[in-house]
Amino acid sequence: MELKLLFKERRSVRAYRPSDVDVQVLKDAVSCAVMAPSWKNSETARYYFAVGEEKAKKVMALLPEFNQRSCQNVSAFLVTAFETGIAGFSAAGVQADSMGNGWGAYDLGLSNAYFLLALREAGYDSLIMGLRDEAGLRTLFGIPESQQIMGVIAIGKRAGEPVLRPRKDVAEISSFL
Ligand SMILES: Cc1cc2nc3c(=O)[nH]c(=O)nc-3n(C[C@H](O)[C@H](O)[C@H](O)COP(=O)(O)O)c2cc1C
Repeated sequence: MELKLLFKERRSVRAYRPSDVDVQVLKDAVSCAVMAPSWKNSETARYYFAVGEEKAKKVMALLPEFNQRSCQNVSAFLVTAFETGIAGFSAAGVQADSMGNGWGAYDLGLSNAYFLLALREAGYDSLIMGLRDEAGLRTLFGIPESQQIMGVIAIGKRAGEPVLRPRKDVAEISSFL
C-alpha cells in the first residue's frame, strides 16, 4: 500500500471483531521495526507478545476497565519496552545530555511507529495504551528491571470504520527559518 495512504488508514481501533493473529505477521512487522533509526544504532527497543485467547486474557487483566472495554475480542497484545542506560549514554554509562533515557523512549516510539504501519499494511489494527499495571506486566513477561516498560498495544482486526480524529494544521506546528 502507498505509504501516504497507510498513514491515514492507521487508526486507534477500539472495536475488534473476533480473529486470530498470525505470529508470522508479528515477526514480519518487527523485522520492519528494526529498520527504524536509533541512537548510535543501539536498538534498545524490546517487543513482548502475548498471542492467543488465554495469554491475551492475562494482559487484559492488567489494563484499566475503560481500556478493557476497547479490547473485547482482542487475542494478541504487545508490550513494548526499552533497555535503559544505553541510548543517550556513552559506552561508559555517562549521560550525554539533559534527555537521559528520554532518548531511549524516543527511539522506541520510532520503532513502534514502523511496527504499527507494517502491521496495518498486513491488514491488522492496533490500539496503544499508556495506562497499564507496569509491575504486573513485568512479572507476567519476566521483563528485567533494566528495561523501561512503555505501551501495551492491542492487535486485531477492526469491527467497523474507526473515526478519523482531527489533526493540527501543518502551519500550526511547523516553522521555517
Ligand atoms: C503514548 C500513547 C498512549 C495512549 N494511551 C491510550 C489509552 O490508554 N487508551 C486509549 O483508548 N487510547 C490511547 N492512545 C491512543 C490515542 O488516544 C490516539 O492515538 C489519538 O487519539 C489519535 O487517534 P488515532 O490513533 O486514531 O489517529 C494512546 C496513544 C499514545 C501514542
